This record gives sequence, structure tokens and C-alpha cells, in this order.
Amino acid sequence: MLNGKNILLGITGGIAAYKTTFLVRLFIKAGANIKIILTHSASSFVSPLTLATLSKNPVVSDFVKTEAHMTDWNNHVELGLWADLMIIAPATANTMSKMASGSCDNLLLAAYLSAKCPVYIAPAMDLDMYKHPSIKSSMEALVSYGNKIIPAKNGELASGLHGEGRMAEPEEIIAFIKNNIRSGLPLSGNKVLITAGPTYEAIDPVRFIGNHSSGLMGFELAKTAASLGAEVYLVTGPTHLSIQHDNIHVVDVVSAEDMYHSTKMYFETSDIVICAAAVADYRPKQVADQKIKKSDDTLTLELVKNTDILMSLGRQKTRQFLVGFALETENEVENATGKMKRKNLDAIVLNSMQDKGAGFGVPTNKISFIDTNSTITTFELKTKAEVAMDIFNEIIKRRHA
Ligand code: CTP
Repeated sequence: MLNGKNILLGITGGIAAYKTTFLVRLFIKAGANIKIILTHSASSFVSPLTLATLSKNPVVSDFVKTEAHMTDWNNHVELGLWADLMIIAPATANTMSKMASGSCDNLLLAAYLSAKCPVYIAPAMDLDMYKHPSIKSSMEALVSYGNKIIPAKNGELASGLHGEGRMAEPEEIIAFIKNNIRSGLPLSGNKVLITAGPTYEAIDPVRFIGNHSSGLMGFELAKTAASLGAEVYLVTGPTHLSIQHDNIHVVDVVSAEDMYHSTKMYFETSDIVICAAAVADYRPKQVADQKIKKSDDTLTLELVKNTDILMSLGRQKTRQFLVGFALETENEVENATGKMKRKNLDAIVLNSMQDKGAGFGVPTNKISFIDTNSTITTFELKTKAEVAMDIFNEIIKRRHA
């Protein structure tokens, strides 16, 4: 969620400033780019060198860079516009009061007034200061301007007193920001279930019937759903892909029947379900206990039909938005539409075998999205990540229609 985001961290002069070194580390670990404005009083609590080393960027405090280069200045407007989000931590009583009144006597305040991005404020001060009506009214004003306050915590304070006023811990600050970002995303509060990859149908202990699906389309769908705020369950057959994301739960399966049972488990509580797996339609009737010897010139395997997972989900469907994939070689739209109706889907994604660069084993795909009103939206050849975003845009449009 914070990966690749530009974060402008403003540090003001309170003892909690020492904790910002940990905060910077956590932002960097989450993949964010950090620039820091340190007020003069904050530099008594935490060193610019430490912060510059941790953030991998110069730390700035003044409008003008050095005495020697009076024309060389730190552009507060650029800093404010560079940021995808700004956080002021710790925010002292003094800084909050200036932010509330629009004062602009240092670089941090100027950058704050220039910033168009969401601004988070983590106050830190002694308990009686935190309770003071002037602080309360500063905070109310700041919230009314659209800023987000990360409430101070109860605990031991630098004064030795106990009470409300401790800056939230770095982990709590990160969690607050992530939750806040997530709650504004289009799939926030939604559970998305995705099937991906091939299935392997055992012949004997060492052999199986499989297919060339890489799982990439399903994995990209999972990543996109999570980036849009969903909690994702990704039921995947064997692939070389891996995924690390707080909101993606990977369920590894091998055969079609395993995939069916796992998918069924998560279906009822899901809001959106996309079956992108290349499920084997048949499996060997008998799985040999021992490795089959090549004793005869021919070998006949009797196959039995696997459960059609998508069809069975279509039958159970209540409120879920259910999407399938169709890979067709002829009468594409007609066959895909027929499949959508037969399996009781809300939409189907058509891959044409006639499109070069579409379908199995390639990093790109070319799709048409077909819904139950027979609206067909056809997209250009794109990366599977872009295709995943197109698919979710189409789903979101129809769920809000
Ligand atoms: N699917 C499934 N379970 C199966 C077979 C397919 O969930 N046992 C899903 C796939 O994940 C995909 C869609 O059904 O979303 C694709 O169906 P497909 O295999 O192309 O079509 P079928 O309905 O099997 O028809 P046919 O093979 O005859 O085209």
C-alpha cells in the first residue's frame, strides 16, 4: 500500500522526535520514498545525519540551503507537490496552532500549506497541554481542513506524568495510515476470491496430467484487488509465482477437486469471485499406488469428469458478483456468452486464441469483457497487470450501477 509512495515527513521539536528514526525505517521497509523536513528545535532531539542516512535523502530545515549559496533554496512548493502523503510526527502544540491559523514562518509550514495530498498529524505533548481548549480547537480546525489526526496515546510522558499525550508508536502510525488509505479505496470492506494456475491430476505417485497455465493472470488479479482495498483469497494450483501481501491469503492446491473444496470454503463470504484457473476437465479414474511400469506398448487411461467449479459456484450464488474466463477458438462471443448463461455468471472475460500475445504462458493478454446485458467491452493487448485493472474497473462499474 505504501510501496512507491512519496512521503514527506515533517518532524517538530518534541522528545518523541527520536522515534521518527524507527518510523522512517518502517516507511522505507514498506517501499516508500521519504523526504524529511526537520524544524530547528527538532534537530536538538534527532540528528539530521541519522535521518538522512535512514531516508537516503538530504534532510532540509531552511528555505535557503546554505549561507554560501544564498540563491540556492529549498522549494517548499515542489516538496509539497512531490508528496503523495505528508505526515507531521511528532506535531507539537506550537506547530499545530500555526498550521491551524495558517502561519508560515518555517519551511515545514510552507510545505504543509503547499501540499495538495492527504496530511496526517501525530500530536505529542504533555497531558495538560493535550487537554487544553486551545489545542482542542487547533485539532478541530485541522480536521475541518481535511487533515487526519492520529490520536496521541495514554502512557508515561517525558515529564514523568502519566496520561494522554504520547505520540502513537511508529507501527501504530503506519497501521493508521494504511487503514485510512484502505478505507478510501473502491474495494474496501470487500472480500475477493480468485482461482488461478493449472491443476495437476495424478496418474501415479510421480506423474500427472497438467497444462501450461503460469497462473500470472490470476496473481495479477489478486494483486490488483488488494491494491483496490479488498481482502483477497487466492486459491492457486502449482505455479512458480509467489506473492507477499498483508491482504492476500494464498491457498495452495494441486488437483481440481482440491481447488473445488477450497474455493467452496471461501465462496459464501465473498463479494466478488473470479475463476481464472485453467482447471483440468478430467482426471484419471484410478491413481496407481505405485509408479506405472512401461511393460506394454500402449497405455490406456480412463478419465472421469472433474467438478466444474465455476458452474457449481454459479448454482450456489446469492449476492456474489461471479466472473469466469473463456478461451475460445471459434464463434467466440457466442460461445463465451453461452458459457456465461450456462454457468449463471455476472460477466465473462473472453480470451481469443486468434489474438497473438493473448492467453496462456505470455505476459500479455487481450480480452473482451461481456456482461449479462450483452455489453461487450474490448480492450487492446496489454500486460496482465493492466488487464487485471481493466477487469476490476468493469466489475466496480457494474456493482455500483
Ligand atoms: N472452470 C472451473 N472448473 C472447471 C473447468 C473450468 O472453474 N472444472 C472455469 C475456469 O476457471 C474458467 C471457465 O470455467 O473461468 C472456463 O471454462 P472452460 O473450461 O473454457 O469452458 P468449459 O465450460 O469447460 O467448456 P469447454 O471446455 O467445452 O469450452
